[in-house]
Amino acid sequence: MMNATDALKERLKKQGPMRFDAFMAFALYDPEYGYYTSGQGIFGRQGDFVTAPELTPLFGQTLGQAILEVLPLCKPVIYEFGAGNGKLASDLLNTLGDTVEQYNIVDVSGGLKQVQSETIRASVPGHLADRVQWLEQLPEGLEGVLIGNEVLDAMPVRVFEYHHDASLEWWISEDITLEKRPLQVSDRGILETLHTQHGPWQDGHLVEWAEQAHGFVKTLTERLKGLALMIDYGDCAEKLLHPAKRQGTLRAHKNHVAHDGFLTDIGEQDLTAHVNFSQIYEAMHSEGGQLEGYCTQASFLLAHGILELAGQNPALTDPVAGAQTRKALNTLLSEAEMGENFKVFAWSRGVDLDATRLNTLFLMNDRSGEL
Ligand SMILES: C[S@@+](CC[C@H](N)C(=O)[O-])C[C@H]1O[C@@H](n2cnc3c(N)ncnc32)[C@H](O)[C@@H]1O
Repeated sequence: MMNATDALKERLKKQGPMRFDAFMAFALYDPEYGYYTSGQGIFGRQGDFVTAPELTPLFGQTLGQAILEVLPLCKPVIYEFGAGNGKLASDLLNTLGDTVEQYNIVDVSGGLKQVQSETIRASVPGHLADRVQWLEQLPEGLEGVLIGNEVLDAMPVRVFEYHHDASLEWWISEDITLEKRPLQVSDRGILETLHTQHGPWQDGHLVEWAEQAHGFVKTLTERLKGLALMIDYGDCAEKLLHPAKRQGTLRAHKNHVAHDGFLTDIGEQDLTAHVNFSQIYEAMHSEGGQLEGYCTQASFLLAHGILELAGQNPALTDPVAGAQTRKALNTLLSEAEMGENFKVFAWSRGVDLDATRLNTLFLMNDRSGEL
């Protein structure tokens, strides 16, 4: 079998240069060569990065407390997008138990289904594991609670390079090198508006434009009757597009190292960009979504009782397991780590959640004014 680089070269030869977002879609999700397609060796300490659900079950258990708040007012059905290795699904099912009638997983990488299924079967009682199903397509109606951890950052982005006289966009040329083309006339307005709002930028300032994540959130909102909760690293536009952030946030991840060699190790490394939550807000708002809260991951987890849950766990006093849990909690909550960089963004449509405590639980370290 050909490797991903040769397959890409062939495709480029046939079709001509690709826009960066098309290249990123190939590198991550090509059904044969994409990084997420095989599903092997990606997540965890042996892989390229560790996500919150893998650090400790307390993450999923705490998220479960938020879902339990709203479940009486929503259809008791969960939709998880981008379920990775199935760890979060397992922790949520164990926390929510019989209150959940159905747990749907929607993932663009089919290869992860087997990994997810094995994780869930190994850690969840059989009658709950039987409630999990994998959807090939997004249903027309999404009634229930939608969740996604680190999904939006994994969606392909376009890359714009601001220049005072003529801005550019990143493309990938036939020999897999970066080619910078003049930004199409129809897209210039986007960059000019961003520059007026967040500039002045110096020449060469990079801006990732998450067209796919924007479209995805619009579609979810349009079909939603219930609550949607997305957790990811990112910030509001004002901070992400600040003149000092000239390099943008697009990064490649391999073996726990973040770097900017986007065009090497194709199909063998992750590519991600920080989520622009102002753009996500605009997408959900344009479809009639109602913001329920936007805050840091640390304040969300603390407000939903992560420390109380940790305290109930006898393992905390065990010298080895206890030390691991304390380390995981520190990573999840510390301002220098995931606590501040990661945000929780929640919105609803077609349900009135005012009677729940959800709104007030978001108030600690509320950032919605920044969106
Ligand atoms: C960085 S991983 C996060 C996995 C997991 N949620 C976790 O926290 O460990 C990104 C996941 O999003 C999935 N994904 C990307 N785009 C998606 C989309 N449009 N719909 C559903 N899943 C998507 C990928 O296949 C992958 O499983």
